[in-house]
Amino acid sequence: MKILVIGSGGREHALCWAIAQSPHCGELYCAPGNAGISRLAECVEIGPDDIGGLVDFATGNGIEFVVVGPEAPLVAGLADRLEAAGIPAFGPSAKAAELEGSKGFMKDLCAKYDISTADYETFDEPDAAKEYILRHRAPIVVKADGLAAGKGVIICRNKNEAYAAIDHIMTERAFGDAGGKVVIEEFLEGEEASFFALVDGTRALPLVSAQDHKAAYDGGEGPNTGGMGAYSPATVISEPMAKTIMDRVITPTIKGMAAEGRPYRGVLYVGLMITVNGPKVLEFNVRFGDPECQPMVMRLKSDLLEALFACAEGRLHEVKLEWRDQASLVVVMAAEGYPGYYAKGSEIRGLDKAEALDGVVVYHAGTKAAGKKILADGGRVLGVAARGETIAKAQELAYKAVDLIDWPQGFCRRDIGWRAIKR
Ligand code: AMP
Ligand code: GLY
Repeated sequence: MKILVIGSGGREHALCWAIAQSPHCGELYCAPGNAGISRLAECVEIGPDDIGGLVDFATGNGIEFVVVGPEAPLVAGLADRLEAAGIPAFGPSAKAAELEGSKGFMKDLCAKYDISTADYETFDEPDAAKEYILRHRAPIVVKADGLAAGKGVIICRNKNEAYAAIDHIMTERAFGDAGGKVVIEEFLEGEEASFFALVDGTRALPLVSAQDHKAAYDGGEGPNTGGMGAYSPATVISEPMAKTIMDRVITPTIKGMAAEGRPYRGVLYVGLMITVNGPKVLEFNVRFGDPECQPMVMRLKSDLLEALFACAEGRLHEVKLEWRDQASLVVVMAAEGYPGYYAKGSEIRGLDKAEALDGVVVYHAGTKAAGKKILADGGRVLGVAARGETIAKAQELAYKAVDLIDWPQGFCRRDIGWRAIKR
């Protein structure tokens, strides 16, 4: 099969890595890809926002299956356009991608189909939003309705911070059009974890759980990032809890989306707060997590390509997934300064030594090849992933690999997996 993967991050490297192992994988392309991906796939210079360019490439090159990594092209309708061109795609339609694209839509769906989430209200006008703050207790959470690259959520410790957040999002339009509406919701206390399932319109197949580390520095300090590391499974999600999540979150979401005329296809990523009253939905994402995808694919024994293709074609009942008994963990290495300003172009050495360790895979994110050299070319640059009998063993091996990488201009957290290891 001729396959095109869309995206250029560690997640897409992990997807290409798993897809390339399938006997069904013929020619593999990635748009735009990175230096690591270019060892597995032919990289084509088309950005994820160039929907027309991607569709033209797929139709013009006989692509038989497209796997979409990031959310933006899905929200912009890439899967619909490909379907119209007769090319199956892994990822939801634009109407279904609103589950991630609009927090207001997602919260209303939860309310209508009795899916447990924080109490909330949606506003399209700042004065009414402030009035709500006046009547409610802090801490409280103010969220831009639309996509804001993970930055549109402001946790407010007191009412003044909440008023300022409303002005920032709605009046100053700090996140552009994403701030046309705000969702204001109750602050939830607990431990965060993610759960993933494949969904083919009517059926769901659970994947596994994972836990991300969003803060830039050790101990959860510093600004929020796209994710500085992750491990799988998330031990806070026990087997009975995974079943509860399937029954009370995933299944009603699929039924609700179908009933709303927006049947969901693709991977459903649920961000949860595990509270004393059970799991509550923080967010839905319509794609794999980055970096959660990296440890996840390392635990999978079955053919990922076969599963994704069956999912896209509505044949999920034909798929049975087998997982390794091991845990896995990824440490993200980022450019000094990330998530703020960072420089590009520094050389990364020692990758071959890290990759030579048994049970280690180094996934590239923002990298670029210059002859034989690998250069940093983004904020999150590498994901050093390892498998082990336990999360502690996977952590030890991942940091052993990190220490073999010679990149003075990079940094990483040293505590990925701490919650699971402490438990
Ligand atoms: P979201 O994009 O909605 O998942 O929010 C981003 C991050 O903000 C989450 O990963 C949580 O850490 C935090 N967050 C969002 N909503 C809440 C809430 N209601 N209570 C506590 N923390 C929250
Ligand atoms: N790691 C968080 C995300 O992919 O949204």
